[in-house]
Amino acid sequence: MSETTSLIQQAWPDVDLDRVVLGAAPTPVQRLVLDGVDAGVELWVKREDAYGDGAWGGNKVRKLEWILAEAKRRGVTSLLTLGGIGTHWGLACARYGAEHGLRTTLALVDQPIDDHVRQQWALLQSSGAVINRFVDMETARQSIKSIEEEMSSEQGEHVWSLPMGGSNEYGTLGYVEAALEIAAQVEAGEMSAPGTVVVPVGSGGTVAGVLLGLAAAGLRTHVLGVVVNDGLDLSAEAVAALANRTADLLRERGAVDVPVISPDDVEARIDWLGATYGDPTPASVAMVEAAARAGLEIEPVYTGKALAAVAALGTALTGPVLWMNTHGPR
Ligand SMILES: Cc1ncc(COP(=O)(O)O)c(C=O)c1O
Repeated sequence: MSETTSLIQQAWPDVDLDRVVLGAAPTPVQRLVLDGVDAGVELWVKREDAYGDGAWGGNKVRKLEWILAEAKRRGVTSLLTLGGIGTHWGLACARYGAEHGLRTTLALVDQPIDDHVRQQWALLQSSGAVINRFVDMETARQSIKSIEEEMSSEQGEHVWSLPMGGSNEYGTLGYVEAALEIAAQVEAGEMSAPGTVVVPVGSGGTVAGVLLGLAAAGLRTHVLGVVVNDGLDLSAEAVAALANRTADLLRERGAVDVPVISPDDVEARIDWLGATYGDPTPASVAMVEAAARAGLEIEPVYTGKALAAVAALGTALTGPVLWMNTHGPR
């Protein structure tokens, strides 16, 4: 097998699904001690921030590996997607899409502004993506169809319209891959099997992929999704449904013995959201500062909130606790 053979392809050798390799695997797992987290918690971090060789890192890159390969298979010329004006997903699409000959069009809506969002917005404006701004997500969603039609009929583009955060079945495969990687790291003795994996949940693909991948690897790890977006249904039922759609895709493409996921297999908690999506809470800001003291650059909207959950739940979590650091600034 070539060194770029994915763990998905190793787990299901008959599967007819490709990826474009955009980062170096495995990302490290490391022991982490953080101010604000009870010293009795055996905390580990999976350094998803390190994933991505190009102009952006983190969880969006893993998703794009499978999305870009499928786009190529379908003959797509343009990606169309939506998000807030600080969207990491939109930026990763624009940058990695361009590296692979695809144009990106974004439908963006306002979100609470802080320094991080201001910086993201500036990067998006210089990313080469075509940007359409809307007053709210409902209007953006309603306009997507007409933008797609116009791109197809007037510009002759072959458009693939992707959901927020890249959380369709293809994007979710990226985190099936990451979970198989965790299982291999446990097998290799790099860490003991985690009792709990903690994942921020913005559009659901990351947590759904982790859930499916851990189940496929036979790990009985509890999956805690820390929901940071109140604009989408990110209940345990919705997360399990996305995991099962991804399992169906694997089966359609030739995989056998793919597990079936139940909503009981995942805990989705919205307790650390704050006022709304994008609201940096005092607890998440405190964890951004604590992470900085430990040498990790995170942000208060996703990763800070996931760590706020770890700090609040402490030893009530079954350990060891593995936190997925999904934020990858470059
Ligand atoms: C840094 C970061 N972490 C986590 C997430 C959440 O991942 P998902 O959208 O797959 O739920 C996102 C994006 O939404 C993100 O940008």
